[in-house]
Amino acid sequence: MPFYLFRRKELHAILISVETTEHRLRPALGPVELTSLGVGAIIGAGIFALVGTAAAGGDERAGAGPALILSFLITAFACGFSALCYAEFASLVPIAGSAYTYSYFTLGELVAWIIGWDLILEYAVGNIAVAISWSGYFVQLLRGFGIHFPPWLSTSYNIAAHNPEILATAPRLFGSAVVFNLPAILVVLLITAVLVIGIKESSRLNAVMVIIKLSVLLFFIFAGAFYVKPENWIPFAPHGWGSIMTSAALVFFAYIGFDAISTTAEEARNPQRDLPIGMIASLAICTLLYVAVAAVLTGMIPYTELNVPEPLSLAFSHLGLHWASGIVAFGAVVATTAVLLVFQLGQPRIFFAMSRDGLLPPWFSRVHPRFRTPHVTTMLTGAVVAAFAAFMDIGEAAELTNIGTLFAFVLVCAGIIVLRVRDPYLVRPFRCPWVPVIPLLGIFTCVYLMLSLPWITWIRFLGWLAAGLLIYFLYGRRHSRVVRE
Ligand code: ALA
Repeated sequence: MPFYLFRRKELHAILISVETTEHRLRPALGPVELTSLGVGAIIGAGIFALVGTAAAGGDERAGAGPALILSFLITAFACGFSALCYAEFASLVPIAGSAYTYSYFTLGELVAWIIGWDLILEYAVGNIAVAISWSGYFVQLLRGFGIHFPPWLSTSYNIAAHNPEILATAPRLFGSAVVFNLPAILVVLLITAVLVIGIKESSRLNAVMVIIKLSVLLFFIFAGAFYVKPENWIPFAPHGWGSIMTSAALVFFAYIGFDAISTTAEEARNPQRDLPIGMIASLAICTLLYVAVAAVLTGMIPYTELNVPEPLSLAFSHLGLHWASGIVAFGAVVATTAVLLVFQLGQPRIFFAMSRDGLLPPWFSRVHPRFRTPHVTTMLTGAVVAAFAAFMDIGEAAELTNIGTLFAFVLVCAGIIVLRVRDPYLVRPFRCPWVPVIPLLGIFTCVYLMLSLPWITWIRFLGWLAAGLLIYFLYGRRHSRVVRE
């Protein structure tokens, strides 16, 4: 294996390259803004949409039933171990780029490239899933106001193909039915425009949305608690351990996002202290909420009825409480908007970091002269996410996102162990406790969740990695800045 594949960046070189570069971002975020960005990224399509399939099961999977509570707890542990590792790295290398940047100086360039490429699955593909969920709840909300959006204009072809009524109403182009998801396209384009204008404005908008989504989830928990029937919790785990794990691998999507905070490190005012606070606090808040939502949801309604795109709304409409169902639908629209915002914010910053290192062409790291945002990559990400959200299914996109993100977590946990062995005396403003036990537990739980995902997801994932390696050997390897210097 040639040596250059493992060439690493020196930590001080990373820090200096940021200090001296003309590509500077504006530092505007404190601990509250960062925690709020985390919660903004975490609570979204996972808890509002995917949770139904996780409890009830779907076409080819058995649901966890009320034991969904355990699925959420197991996943929270996997994320918690990884969050402690992320926090150590984020405090050590407070630079845009997240896991990509960390691995560059611990595991070397090839692994860094693989992670950077893999993170596209988390951020861009994740947002495809979220945009699709946004569109579903938005159309439902409009229906509450008596506005009926044409189904052929708000779904994917795959779903329409199973639904003759949608196909029958769709217009025809060269003999085939035209079906695509217009609201998903529009919301992604709108968010992209907000992000090009600037981060401070977007983080304020995010804070408002976070308050709304927290209030709506608390409303669900406290209002729903009055309608819980304990007999719905029996049997607790109707399909056993296997279904608890497959559901855990699906609801993992609901936790993704705390790591997105690390992509804004260069925009944080005091990254060493505030990045760990932001990640761990947002993860803890969401875990408490999710476990409570899972308990209330499966207590309100028999779990077998939950395989719908809007399970939290259904729990209320099932009881005839349509006003409460409307509040939840509104919360879901707001929640998924906030997730879209943070992920659209994260992806360009990873491209930005990779381009600054020469692994992607220089135009990926251009900063807008007036807005000081990475406008080129923000618009590129927006265009690609909008295009795929128009035609893809939510389940496919979510599972691909999960496998990619879990893989990145595994490498981050491994990186912590490598760095402790190689550079034990490095000053670490935040230290992950009990190394190597915590990182090893992180690796074990994340790999276990990956193995609980369907084989088709594995094939797509490996195909994606293979494409990434090809690009690296054709472009990145030759243009890497580490070599030029
Ligand atoms: N955790 C985010 C969501 O559930 C990705 O939408």
